[in-house]
Amino acid sequence: MYEHDVIVVGGGGAGLRAAIAAQEEGADVAIVTKLHPVRSHTGAAEGGINAALREGDDWELHAYDTMKGSDYLGDAPAIETLAQDAPEEVFQIEHWGMPFSREEDGRVSQRPFGGLSFPRTTYAGAETGHHLLHTMYEQVVKRGIQVYDEWYVMNLAVTDEETPEDRSCHGIVGYDVQSGEIAGFKANDGVILATGGPGQAFDHTTNAVACTGDGYAMAYRAGVPMEDMEFVQFHPTTLPSTGVLISEGVRGEGGILYNADGERFMFEHGYANNDGELASRDVVSRAELTEVNEGRGFEDEYVMLDMRHLGEERIVDRLENILHLAEDFEGVDGLKEPMPVKPGQHYEMGGIETDENGHTCIDGLYAAGETACVSVHGANRLGGNALPELIVFGARAGKHAAGGDMAEAKIETGERGDIEYDETELPYQPGEVGIDSGPSGVAADGGAVTADADAVVEQTVETERERVSTLMERDEGVQHSQIRADLQKTMTQNVNVFREEEGLKQALQDIREIREAYQDVYVDDPSRTFNTDLQQTIETRNLIDVAETITLGALVRTEFRGAHWRAEHQERKDEKWLKHTLVGWNDGDPTIFYRPTILEGENKTYEPKERSY
Ligand code: FUM
Repeated sequence: MYEHDVIVVGGGGAGLRAAIAAQEEGADVAIVTKLHPVRSHTGAAEGGINAALREGDDWELHAYDTMKGSDYLGDAPAIETLAQDAPEEVFQIEHWGMPFSREEDGRVSQRPFGGLSFPRTTYAGAETGHHLLHTMYEQVVKRGIQVYDEWYVMNLAVTDEETPEDRSCHGIVGYDVQSGEIAGFKANDGVILATGGPGQAFDHTTNAVACTGDGYAMAYRAGVPMEDMEFVQFHPTTLPSTGVLISEGVRGEGGILYNADGERFMFEHGYANNDGELASRDVVSRAELTEVNEGRGFEDEYVMLDMRHLGEERIVDRLENILHLAEDFEGVDGLKEPMPVKPGQHYEMGGIETDENGHTCIDGLYAAGETACVSVHGANRLGGNALPELIVFGARAGKHAAGGDMAEAKIETGERGDIEYDETELPYQPGEVGIDSGPSGVAADGGAVTADADAVVEQTVETERERVSTLMERDEGVQHSQIRADLQKTMTQNVNVFREEEGLKQALQDIREIREAYQDVYVDDPSRTFNTDLQQTIETRNLIDVAETITLGALVRTEFRGAHWRAEHQERKDEKWLKHTLVGWNDGDPTIFYRPTILEGENKTYEPKERSY
């Protein structure tokens, strides 16, 4: 068994920042990651990092824009923490060597991004995430933080008390992709999940193939509620053939969108009379699809994004990467032609419920970055707010896990406090198939292991070894690729930008059938080394659990808020719905409950207003 004080799962931006912060507190830290850190999906983040740095801007404006962008579903303590800590974090990474784009006078450049009242997005060309990863990875190497890369984390070693709030997390179980070894990792002080998003639940996504929702699913099955999962961001500018992201930075620099009639529709059709292309993402994505659905799209599928008028010098200086992406993935020369774009799944606003210190309701278990829901983004994330989230809350989670001194959290977690239960009658049973006889969600289930951390880890290792043996011993059945394709199809058809009750019910039914099919999943590749068939089979189970929480949330939330559009409910209903949706696994028999949104900030209470751009 391996042993460290703090174990960070995932080597992307949040994971690296958490590891550095824990190390600074004196902890012996290890990062366990299925990819080499610099191959993490943070590397695909293009546009930038929002931080109020300049005269004329301040953290309160950043907080206000973020709360408005969230459609009043973000929690003020989380949003204000983000806005207050972001400048310091940006200075920190600058001092670590982050190669920010700069003005002639040497100041870090900032550009406009959607939904911002001030141009506060710092950037490094259109490769901000790539440079951020490399900058922080250098710090990890310099500090001698141990990295177990190409170790896939299969489960959390969590005790088995009746209620999740009484459980503790003592470590993880990892699968060494290179050798096939399955081993326990004991964490003396805490486990931090920084495993990124679940984009692979959809078939048109900007997310890498590695974005399979592992952290959400492991935390969920261990008893942590999934918060606000129905809020999925669809980015307005992805390449139609691949889902590759074309940064909002293009529109930030002045790029324009037009339809097949040559109209600059964001203005000409009144979707956003003030901000046009720089309205928030939910607004622009719906506008594009409305244009296509009403027959003004190109090839019934996409609209055009044009940046030619910005001129070659500016494009090459600030958006060079976009030229390569458009050329390599769509065969378009962005200096000479407009680029075809359409909405694609990009980001999950919801996630593992945490407080402002990254702590979940399970003792010793933390989450940060996209996989967590603090909640900063509420119903819609503003572009440029993901990267500050992962450094701000990655640092906080790392510090807290390592025993650093932090103020007590204002945000409550778990099935306690001011909560109310949902009473919607669900058309299909969610959760574990055959739960009467099936395993509980807690990996260490089996009783009498609650006190001894070593025993919890060892028992979880045994559970995972058995799981792998069962998958490998079966020599017929259904393959994960078929199951995953079916899941992506129903999510893309039914839980997309525009959602209808019948479609959501259909998705729940499909997910039920997909779960049943998964009972017969088998691994065709018998090898122990680099067995991607085995890994993807396990990842697919995680995607099923995550997709179900998204769909459940989308069905029960009978209003239109932020990125969650419902055909039958065309208004935001503040009286009923200023609350977070929480889905608890409940040992395989999910429960849905709600907790009120916190709108009371440090200096003011945010009053929900109509959101127009
Ligand atoms: O459009 C972009 O560059 C993406 C930025 C983000 O998601 O924050």
